[in-house]
Amino acid sequence: MNQEVLQLLNEQVNLELASAYLYYDMSTAMKSQNVNGFAHWLALQAHEEIEHAEKFIHFLLELDQEPELKTIALERPSDRSPLALAKATLAHEKTVTESILNLRKAALEAGEQAVEIFLQRFVSEQVEEESNARDVLDLIQLAGDDASAKLRVDAILASRE
Ligand SMILES: [Fe+2]
Repeated sequence: MNQEVLQLLNEQVNLELASAYLYYDMSTAMKSQNVNGFAHWLALQAHEEIEHAEKFIHFLLELDQEPELKTIALERPSDRSPLALAKATLAHEKTVTESILNLRKAALEAGEQAVEIFLQRFVSEQVEEESNARDVLDLIQLAGDDASAKLRVDAILASRE
């Protein structure tokens, strides 16, 4: 297997796990501020990221490659407000999209067609992830400083399944 593609796949496993860790950190921050709907939304997002990591790990194992788990970094946002965390979520998803596209490009260039096909669903997934993150940010921005609007937005975020 092409070594650069293999390395990028391993880095993607790490990035998905780091995403889970980041969202779990944000969820905890929201919980401690009693913004429980957004906390719930972020906790589910964290779980989804673990599932993404598992898909990459499973794929590497299928290719008879041993996934290399690395140290997980936490880039903890210093501003812990819901608005700042919603912005950080969208920014992070954009970073993940960039990483997936970069990996797909490397797979194409290396003629790793199975990898390229595997990545297609993640390209689509990222369109959805960015859209969801943008929706959350829009809602929080719309509510602004209006206390009852903030409560309504949090109830909407609490309904995520
Ligand atoms: Fe992900």
